[in-house]
Amino acid sequence: MQKGAMAIFNSNDIYPVSADSTLPFAQHRDIFYLSGVDQEESILVIFPDAVKKEYREILFLKETNEHIAIWEGEKLDKKTAFITSGIKSVFWLPDFEKVLFELMTLASAVYINTNEHYRANITTETREARFIKKLQQQYPAHTYLRSQPILQRLRSVKEKEEIALIQQACDITEKGFRRVLKFVKPNTTEYEIEAEYIHEFTRNRANGFAYTPIIASGYNACVLHYIENNQICKNGDLILMDVGASYANYASDMTRCVPVSGKFTQRQKDVYNAVLRVKDAAAKMLVPGTFWADYHIEVGKIMTTELIGLKLITKEDVKNEDPKHPAYKKYFMHGTSHHMGLDTHDYGILTEPMQAGMVFTVEPGIYIPEENLGIRIEDNYVIQEKGEPFNLMINIPVTINQIENLMK
Ligand code: GLY
Ligand code: MN
Ligand code: MN
Repeated sequence: MQKGAMAIFNSNDIYPVSADSTLPFAQHRDIFYLSGVDQEESILVIFPDAVKKEYREILFLKETNEHIAIWEGEKLDKKTAFITSGIKSVFWLPDFEKVLFELMTLASAVYINTNEHYRANITTETREARFIKKLQQQYPAHTYLRSQPILQRLRSVKEKEEIALIQQACDITEKGFRRVLKFVKPNTTEYEIEAEYIHEFTRNRANGFAYTPIIASGYNACVLHYIENNQICKNGDLILMDVGASYANYASDMTRCVPVSGKFTQRQKDVYNAVLRVKDAAAKMLVPGTFWADYHIEVGKIMTTELIGLKLITKEDVKNEDPKHPAYKKYFMHGTSHHMGLDTHDYGILTEPMQAGMVFTVEPGIYIPEENLGIRIEDNYVIQEKGEPFNLMINIPVTINQIENLMK
């Protein structure tokens, strides 16, 4: 942070449905990352150069007491807030305006937290956005700076404690997948499979799915964002399952494909093994110094070779391709990797080189609608200082033999 500046972070709102019902609370990952506070209506202030020591880190929380606890359930009090966050200065929200005024007279500039994620597409005015609007109206002469470039760098390189939590999320996902391997049979429905996953996740203390799961049999696997999960799995089809547990708010993001019958056909095997080879070759490129854009070009070349081998495209197609729309995109139309962490599509500045401690998915796929066949395989990797990345999903069955044996 710039000398003498202060940064402010807000919780998410609790979103209403209608009448008095609400969606379950989901904390904004930045205030959670910085403080561990997983509670609505919280505000974190960071002011490292404040002359008054008690102003260097401050939490403002929803007031609680014994009476409120009986009606609304247990909330953080000043002691548990300290244990959670390490922050000694904890105020109740009604003091915020008064303390903020004093802080604003002392700060040289204010970091505000706008959403700059490369895939963000937000139409709702968040609590943070509302706060920023009001702050800038009340204090128009201040200098405002962006927290995002700092947070994107910080959050993209994981601490070892974070990697342990992501590993835990991956291990719970593995339990779900192993359960499903035993469960799937002809005429199982996609939603029953989804139910098996969430049962296994919850009983292993996951805090839910990391994202809306995709359980897509047959042709549905070619619909990239299929989430209806309401069809019957037919004998002879493959089921694509893109599903991950969230543990302590950390994501995992797995994709596996299994045959409804328990046995892959020869064609399914050929396409499956092509995707698996691309995944393994792509993962080897996740080393310090790799640029995300160059990596995608290289993966495209590997995929091109596999698609020619499968006779889905020809060398002619490749010779005549428009470099902006390479031939392989007909069957592999999405990206190969994204950062993963507290958000499934996590922070990271994609124009800067990869570093040790970053966690990426690797998730190539081949989608052939005319064959009712879509295959994606997705694992989560941690970049190492030296050598190949560490596969956090190394224990999740992935070869055709492993899957067929477990489905027997
Ligand atoms: N499940 C979201 C993704 O794979 O990116
Ligand atoms: Mn996924
Ligand atoms: Mn993914």
